[in-house]
Amino acid sequence: MGLDGAGRSRVESLLGRMSLERKIGQMTQAERLSVTPAEVREHHLGSVLSGGGSTPGANRPADWVAMADELWEASAAGGPEQGAVPVLYGVDAVHGNSNVLGATVFPHNIGLGAAGDPELMERIARVTARETLACGVDWAFAPTLAVARDDRWGRTYESYSEDPGIVAAYAGRFVGALQADLGPDGLVACAKHWVGDGATTHGIDQGDAAIPRAELESLHAAPYRPAIEAGVLTVMASYSSWNGDKCHGHRYLLTDLLKGQLGFRGFVVSDWNGLDQLDDDFGEAVALGVNAGIDMAMVPESWREFMARLKEHVERGRVPLGRIDDAVRRILTVKQACGLLDRPRPSERPGANDPGFGSAAHRETAREAVRKSLVLLKNEGGLLPLDRGARILVAGRNAHDRGHQCGGWTVEWQGLTGNDRVEGGTSIWEGIARLAPNAVLSAGGTGAEADPRRHDAAIAVIGERPYAEGLGDVRSGDDVVVEQGSQIQGTFRVLEAYGDELSLSRLHPEDLTTIRTIAARGVPVVAVLVSGRPLCIGPELQASGAFVAAWLPGSEGQGVADVLFGGHDFQGRLSFSWPREPGQSPNRGDSPYDPLFPYGFGLSYAG
Ligand code: GLC
Repeated sequence: MGLDGAGRSRVESLLGRMSLERKIGQMTQAERLSVTPAEVREHHLGSVLSGGGSTPGANRPADWVAMADELWEASAAGGPEQGAVPVLYGVDAVHGNSNVLGATVFPHNIGLGAAGDPELMERIARVTARETLACGVDWAFAPTLAVARDDRWGRTYESYSEDPGIVAAYAGRFVGALQADLGPDGLVACAKHWVGDGATTHGIDQGDAAIPRAELESLHAAPYRPAIEAGVLTVMASYSSWNGDKCHGHRYLLTDLLKGQLGFRGFVVSDWNGLDQLDDDFGEAVALGVNAGIDMAMVPESWREFMARLKEHVERGRVPLGRIDDAVRRILTVKQACGLLDRPRPSERPGANDPGFGSAAHRETAREAVRKSLVLLKNEGGLLPLDRGARILVAGRNAHDRGHQCGGWTVEWQGLTGNDRVEGGTSIWEGIARLAPNAVLSAGGTGAEADPRRHDAAIAVIGERPYAEGLGDVRSGDDVVVEQGSQIQGTFRVLEAYGDELSLSRLHPEDLTTIRTIAARGVPVVAVLVSGRPLCIGPELQASGAFVAAWLPGSEGQGVADVLFGGHDFQGRLSFSWPREPGQSPNRGDSPYDPLFPYGFGLSYAG
């Protein structure tokens, strides 16, 4: 990512005319519910964001564009040369612009990793960019480049793979397509979370990655290289720690390695209140983070205090003015590079209110991604593919629940239950019903009505309910939250865990009951697991005739039926090793390595 001479001199000219207050304003990002357009203007804020589920008006593209226009009027009217620098608006468009009603919701990254298709990632990025720009939003906090090494982590599904190879193969392609050569239909990308977010002990969210530097750099930093080569404009710091030291305050990681050795020339944004965790004293935390290399602070509510503390630090010499200038130069460089400084108000931009938002064409791309993401783990006696005329009983808690199949970061931070607020798309049941006229939905979802005289086979759609971040963690108790003796400098929040063991039969015993109920009546069962990670499935696998890992397929559940009924063969291959026992988290390259199914495993109809 580089500017030409004119661009560089414009940035220097703008920087040279800025007061300290304006500079600090550019380094500040507030959440939309905690700031008014008038305050954006008064304090010259550099960015505003929507946290997961923070949506304007009726949460339609037009409502987002209207909000973006207000913020543009407040920040950009008059033009940068008159000191009016437009805000960057950021959202978590991590699997499509999934906050917004009616958006195309793609499979989460764990399924895309199984698809093994970098070219498809470019098309996904283009649809995501179009549906985000349609809302007047310029910045997506994506892609996540985590290399998740412990499936107990609540964010495993945001990772493409346990192996850096797939993550690196996708990183540059996704960033390049999302940013689209920084043209008018490009979106500012954000590689996250720097660095080692997927390496924490026990997979504890925001925990400590107690690993040697060689492992940190070869497994977890490596995928950022292609992202930086592709010109990624922003990087988000990780809440987690490395050998006890928080990434948000780690000068070697944020400055020497990322900006120095790897040559990253965009800006580093902190995570949501990530700075707070550096010290019990917020003022001290601000100095630690900014001096370490945080360029923009995501301080959703505490933005006023951030600005006041940072100003004091500069006036007292605790934070050098040169550090402020470096941060603001990076922020202005990003805004210049993506054309933001010269774009008209959002509603007047070519992509605003794009009628292609949530269109059939976009959904076809997502449906293709679903098909390619499915991994066939078992197919006894060639049970699959099913005959479209067969009498199919469809059971399971996740059979007709578009919210569950989308997972976290969908309309709400923690995702949804039910179908109402995932508009458009198809549940897995709805997709089956379209292809198989003799399919019926189990009344209570339990399959209790299974009868070999009326049913040729059953499909049991089972698995997890949605979660995001630490609320998806699986851990035996808070005793493992911080390893005895590991001194994490600072603090971190511990959220209530999803469960205490990575076994499906413990997390959701109703699923095994459903499968066994149906099988006991002599009806063969195809199990379809909707989950954000591999789970221990011994009993469920044994009781099923066929078993499919569907991950979190998103809004286009139809893609599952496409493959179950022979339209497309299975092609997905595991990008995560599948554990044999709870507590085991096998990764490719381990020695010994004894997963239930190895990295790269996946059957087709023929075996
Ligand atoms: C969250 C996540 C981060 C997200 C940010 C804004 O806490 O860690 O991935 O981009 O806050 O929602």
